[in-house]
Amino acid sequence: MIPASYRAVSLALLACGTAAQLEQSSYAYSPPVYPSPNTTGLGGWESALAKADAFVSQLTLDEKTQIVTGTPGPCVGNIPPIPRLGFNGLCLQDGPLAIRQADFASVFPAGLTAAASWDRDLIYQRGVSIAEEYKGKGAHVVLGPVAGPLGRSAYGGRNWEGFSPDPYLTGVAMEHTIQGIQSVGVQACAKHYIGNEQETQRVPSVSASGETIESASSNIDDRAIHELYSWPFADAVHAGVSSVMCSYNRLNESYACQNSYTLNGLLKTEFGFQGYVMSDWGATLSGVPAIEAGLDMNMPGGIPFSSATPSYFGQNITIAVQNGTLAEERVDDMVRRVLTPYFYLNQDQDFPTIDPSSSGMNTLFPQSAWVYQFDLNGTSSRDVRANHAALIRELGAAGTVLLKNTNGALPLKNPKYIGVFGNDAGDLTNSLYFFLDGFGGQYEYGTQPVGGGSGTGRSTYVVTPLDAIKARAKKDGALVQYILNNTMASTDLSYLYPPTQELDVCLVFLKTWATENYDRSSLHVDWDGDALVEAVAANCTNTVVVTHSGGLNVLPFASHPNVTAILAAHYPGQESGNSIVDVLYGDVNPSGRLPYTIAHNDSDYTIPILNLTNPGPNDWQLNFTESLLIDYRQFDYANKSVLYEFGYGLSYTNFSLAGITVQDVAGGNLSALPPAQVVAPGGNPALFESVLKVTTQVQNTGSVAGAAVPQLYVGMPSTVPSGTPPKQLRGFNKVPLTPGETKTVTFALTRRDISYWDVEAQQWRIPEGTFTLSLGFSSRDIKHSAIVCPLC
Ligand SMILES: *[C@@H]1O[C@H](CO)[C@@H](O)[C@H](O)[C@H]1NC(C)=O
Ligand SMILES: *[C@@H]1O[C@H](CO)[C@@H](O)[C@H](O)[C@H]1NC(C)=O
Ligand SMILES: *[C@@H]1O[C@H](CO)[C@@H](O)[C@H](O)[C@H]1NC(C)=O
Ligand SMILES: *[C@@H]1O[C@H](CO)[C@@H](O)[C@H](O)[C@H]1NC(C)=O
Ligand SMILES: *[C@@H]1O[C@H](CO)[C@@H](O)[C@H](O)[C@H]1NC(C)=O
Ligand SMILES: *[C@@H]1O[C@H](CO)[C@@H](O)[C@H](O)[C@H]1NC(C)=O
Ligand SMILES: *[C@@H]1O[C@H](CO)[C@@H](O)[C@H](O)[C@H]1NC(C)=O
Ligand SMILES: *[C@@H]1O[C@H](CO)[C@@H](O)[C@H](O)[C@H]1NC(C)=O
Ligand SMILES: *[C@@H]1O[C@H](CO)[C@@H](O)[C@H](O)[C@H]1NC(C)=O
Ligand SMILES: *[C@@H]1O[C@H](CO)[C@@H](O)[C@H](O)[C@H]1NC(C)=O
Ligand SMILES: *[C@@H]1O[C@H](CO)[C@@H](O)[C@H](O)[C@H]1NC(C)=O
Ligand SMILES: *[C@@H]1O[C@H](CO)[C@@H](O)[C@H](O)[C@H]1NC(C)=O
Repeated sequence: MIPASYRAVSLALLACGTAAQLEQSSYAYSPPVYPSPNTTGLGGWESALAKADAFVSQLTLDEKTQIVTGTPGPCVGNIPPIPRLGFNGLCLQDGPLAIRQADFASVFPAGLTAAASWDRDLIYQRGVSIAEEYKGKGAHVVLGPVAGPLGRSAYGGRNWEGFSPDPYLTGVAMEHTIQGIQSVGVQACAKHYIGNEQETQRVPSVSASGETIESASSNIDDRAIHELYSWPFADAVHAGVSSVMCSYNRLNESYACQNSYTLNGLLKTEFGFQGYVMSDWGATLSGVPAIEAGLDMNMPGGIPFSSATPSYFGQNITIAVQNGTLAEERVDDMVRRVLTPYFYLNQDQDFPTIDPSSSGMNTLFPQSAWVYQFDLNGTSSRDVRANHAALIRELGAAGTVLLKNTNGALPLKNPKYIGVFGNDAGDLTNSLYFFLDGFGGQYEYGTQPVGGGSGTGRSTYVVTPLDAIKARAKKDGALVQYILNNTMASTDLSYLYPPTQELDVCLVFLKTWATENYDRSSLHVDWDGDALVEAVAANCTNTVVVTHSGGLNVLPFASHPNVTAILAAHYPGQESGNSIVDVLYGDVNPSGRLPYTIAHNDSDYTIPILNLTNPGPNDWQLNFTESLLIDYRQFDYANKSVLYEFGYGLSYTNFSLAGITVQDVAGGNLSALPPAQVVAPGGNPALFESVLKVTTQVQNTGSVAGAAVPQLYVGMPSTVPSGTPPKQLRGFNKVPLTPGETKTVTFALTRRDISYWDVEAQQWRIPEGTFTLSLGFSSRDIKHSAIVCPLC
């Protein structure tokens, strides 16, 4: 039993544990979990399931296999139509930040940028707007959002497609993105499940001697699976996600798309997932075994009856049922799982036809390879952008984090002489598209609005920083000079007049390329950007640095006295220049916060990308021996100083937090383990019930309007097993405040929020003893703490 409220204690705490050696168990085994659970439609999908059931009863076995097997067609993934039943098929399109394979579509800020906004409403709106464009183009399924990679290694090439290495922040972003997407009647697909934490050797390769070298195996202990990697996927299921994409990697040496423990066990049993599991493109490596392990759809599939493009699914399923190897009931469940979200989201009613222009851009399937007739009779090249540019501009600014601001550098105050430096400032010179050439695109000249690979977008335009600065300067009657060549600007600034010493501000734009298929090999900005900053700052007392990066950068110039301001602008999408000018000039008060930690040096990041030369078939073993200790969890545990901590970010105003009160909303009779309840999507519903309510008041004590981001961190009692992070994010709010204004902010802590995964009990357990609840403006700027004992 706990009292109704607690005395507020002020405590600047940096809790630390002993650097205990984490135990390493045997990772060459993944427990079998069979049979694959049937969908029951629980969680509100019952009537959609009944429709799916009625539909399935009219299908031949061949038609059933078609519904679970991709085929060449106009989209990146295609389920063929069944005209006899008025079913137009399903169109699946990349990716998480845009409908990539489309013309007249918008390119939105990346997931990383959305996470840096810490703004639930904008994250939701981003989902809505992306899905509106999919629907306008006749695409039924968004292949996104991304929670894998989570961001275990700072070097991960796809980290920007997802949100944050913090599972709570990523989970919130998954939930709101999925709710936004599905509110429009479009299916979301949470990917890549799970442990897809590096691109290097993500798929099998063949050695010089012809041996198959298996994919990297992510060997993850049970606690880390629950508390980090699958946490946001549980949130996705809780939000009603339609599908989940299994990943390329192995888990404990078993391929993720045929791993019965994670598919049948974790996802379909423990999380109660009612939708369908689709494979990543080419990640299906068996037929019946994968199906029995829980895989429901093979993508991109194959061409029926073609030995040139075989599929483990398709006709092979028909044969396996006929020869008695596979129960037709399992196939029926696969089909029901695919069709239930389709009916639930009313995609059988007046869904737009596929825009014919999509098929012309399809590099995967030329039309000559199609076997089925897709309805391409609608209007071509539909413009689906609507007014989404406004949201893109707003979110691009909201996801920009102000890291440093000295000497009143920002906001700019009518500068008359402006210098712009760096190859990230100007227009793109090698096309607007970062997909082709093996996902290349690390071009020297041009701003970096997004990253590369299937998660990119095909921009119709990009507002560059230089364009937006020129437009603003013209209005102000200011003079803009620029050198976009990093090599030249690093060696010779003499072409400028007035010289840099007399400029009001020197704006340096830096970029970092990141893409699917490759991991980063450095945490520094690309193209010798550090040297460029040094050169400009040597000659300019007001040097403002902006980075456009698909992940974190170390910033060796951060303490340079002439570097007066630093902004991490991430990947902002097509309105990039407008977003940054809004922040630089103070039309928008920066309110982004770091969704990761910026330490001092590359060497501070102790989780590398595994990169082997001449490996044997089973040599790619990624032992996640750090377990729970990634990003700030690791730096806190090791008590290491960092440059800019997780959750950090400056504003043009100041905020204060007044006190902390904690209320027991569970009625004082909390059990350590959740009461047994029927699983609902997301897991045991008891896990999502609020048990504690934390309240504070936040005030804008400065002179301009701005948004504060108060954050709540939970420190577990000392009774938890070793290796538990000292504190973990479990609540945040984005609070817009006018000068002087105060608002009351509450945080609801759920049972899961104050539990750890007990590997013996196989349950979420609230530990005995006292917790420290810390409220502050970042993970290391704690203003108030309260000691609570939920089980006392
Ligand atoms: C990973 O852990 C296993 C023990 O489970 C060990 O045999 C192997 O050497 C480790 N691999 C690496 C690359 O550390
Ligand atoms: C991998 O092995 C570890 C250690 O035995 C275990 O805790 C974990 O649940 C296993 N994961 C999978 C996906 O089988
Ligand atoms: C799924 O439902 C079928 C009947 O449609 C039944 O035969 C099968 O046993 C069920 N499977 C499970 C795992 O409950
Ligand atoms: C069945 O799967 C095997 C293995 O991929 C393949 O060789 C064969 O062509 C497939 N059959 C059909 C009809 O797709
Ligand atoms: C049944 O069909 C499947 C799929 O083609 C095949 O892999 C399996 O070997 C067949 N089994 C028998 C007993 O014929
Ligand atoms: C598209 O239009 C053509 C010609 O009008 C017609 O033959 C075809 O059946 C239509 N296709 C679909 C899928 O409606
Ligand atoms: C960039 O500047 C360097 C050094 O001044 C010069 O060698 C190089 O040709 C320039 N690049 C372009 C594309 O002009
Ligand atoms: C810039 O600063 C460096 C180092 O102080 C100096 O050598 C160089 O002449 C300066 N360049 C210009 C154009 O002022
Ligand atoms: C891995 O090694 C290859 C070959 O040496 C290199 O090209 C690549 O950059 C490395 N990858 C990373 C992430 O360091
Ligand atoms: C800062 O800029 C001024 C003006 O160009 C220059 O004189 C000074 O040396 C610079 N400071 C540093 C530390 O580079
Ligand atoms: C960063 O690394 C360099 C050497 O690589 C070292 O001199 C410096 O002290 C390190 N900085 C910090 C803050 O650890
Ligand atoms: C943690 O860091 C603080 C401040 O830097 C220091 O006072 C303390 O001794 C450190 N504790 C440990 C265990 O290293």
